[in-house]
Amino acid sequence: MNIIEIIDKKRRGLTHTEEEIAALVKMMESGQAQDYQISAWLMAVCINGLDMEETTWLTKAFVESGKQLELSDVGGVVVDKHSTGGVGDKTTLALIPMLAVAGVKVAKLSGRGLGFTGGTIDKLEAIPGFQVSLTTAEFVKQIRQIGMAISSQTQDLAPADGKMYALRDVTATVESIPLIAASVISKKIAAGADVIVLDIKYGTGAFMHTLEDAKSLAYTCREVGSRLGKSISTVISAMNQPLGCSIGHSLEVIETVQLLRGEGAPDLEMLCLRLASVALVCAGVQPNLEAAEEALRASLHDGTALEKFRELVIAQKGDPYFIQDPALLPQPDKVLMIPASQTGYIANIDALEVAKAAKLVGAGRLTKGSPINLGVGVLLRKKVGDSVRPGEILVELYADERAPKEAMEVLKGAFTYSANPVESPALVDEVMLGDVFQRATTSV
Ligand code: URA
Repeated sequence: MNIIEIIDKKRRGLTHTEEEIAALVKMMESGQAQDYQISAWLMAVCINGLDMEETTWLTKAFVESGKQLELSDVGGVVVDKHSTGGVGDKTTLALIPMLAVAGVKVAKLSGRGLGFTGGTIDKLEAIPGFQVSLTTAEFVKQIRQIGMAISSQTQDLAPADGKMYALRDVTATVESIPLIAASVISKKIAAGADVIVLDIKYGTGAFMHTLEDAKSLAYTCREVGSRLGKSISTVISAMNQPLGCSIGHSLEVIETVQLLRGEGAPDLEMLCLRLASVALVCAGVQPNLEAAEEALRASLHDGTALEKFRELVIAQKGDPYFIQDPALLPQPDKVLMIPASQTGYIANIDALEVAKAAKLVGAGRLTKGSPINLGVGVLLRKKVGDSVRPGEILVELYADERAPKEAMEVLKGAFTYSANPVESPALVDEVMLGDVFQRATTSV
């Protein structure tokens, strides 16, 4: 079957065979299928979908397009956590040391910002000297030595996903459950962890807008993982207001340090504890979520999690002195305050609008590969449910000299008030634990 026939089949809403999906991925990789043909197929998938078998075959074809990391000899159970992307989501930065202190190995391959969502690798670049690209050998060696490593996604793991993702990003075909599931799961399988925890986000600042879609994506991810021999845990969390208080690179690194010192924003701390405890239970190092949370919380208050973070920074050639002195991180030229305009309670802070404001001041990329300003961003001084009086500061905009007025307007418009008290919204909606990992033993 040639590429035109494959596109035509999906356009008509028919189901592919495994051979057709494998052929499509190979044709894309070899350049035999042009970008516009893959884009046409992607749009057909967005409209007509892929069933579970097709999604599994696509995931498998992505995995087989590259190498798979071998981490079985790093000396412990290897954990990987992945988020489907949000605004102010610095959980990965915090979870690496929290998990490493709690007795598992952490192998984290992360990406850069995507659309309106921030990327962990960009955030780490705010730390002076921090080396974000490790070779596979360096990555594995560091996990063996200090129990954790983070690196930017290498080109040799699931490269076909990388190609298809780049096309999806510019053809409005990101928001498709089977395409997201295949993209995420293929990278997680290729990265070789024993325990995989996915944070599936929904809301205005996420690719899934409704809880129902998030549940469907979570189910698809678990099912595809299980069909390919990987048990996957999923946590569904809300992304209607930004997570924590900061959005922007230096700001998010500073907030991570505060969290690791036991002084984190309640929603950020709660989500980190939940994700990490799911990982610890599935790794078999804690008996249940409650015990895991207690141990993790203790590490935030006794300094061990922060100390482990310092170790990570030093191992990856970063200068750890910013931990005592955040002024060593990239700084904005100015900080603009936005006061509340009325008395009442904060009813909503639209995460997407906050992300847009951050992008307008330079915290996000406007074109692929363009530089970002690491010192700028948004600091929320109020969260949903907080009471406010006119003149009280709601939010700070960290900007450079060009600070566009538009960013201030977008930020003001992100806040909605209520005259009546508003409850803080639920953050975690569903936790589905995967199997407890057991290393296969060879019988004699
Ligand atoms: N993150 C990914 O890695 N892929 C997607 O498709 C969406 C979020």
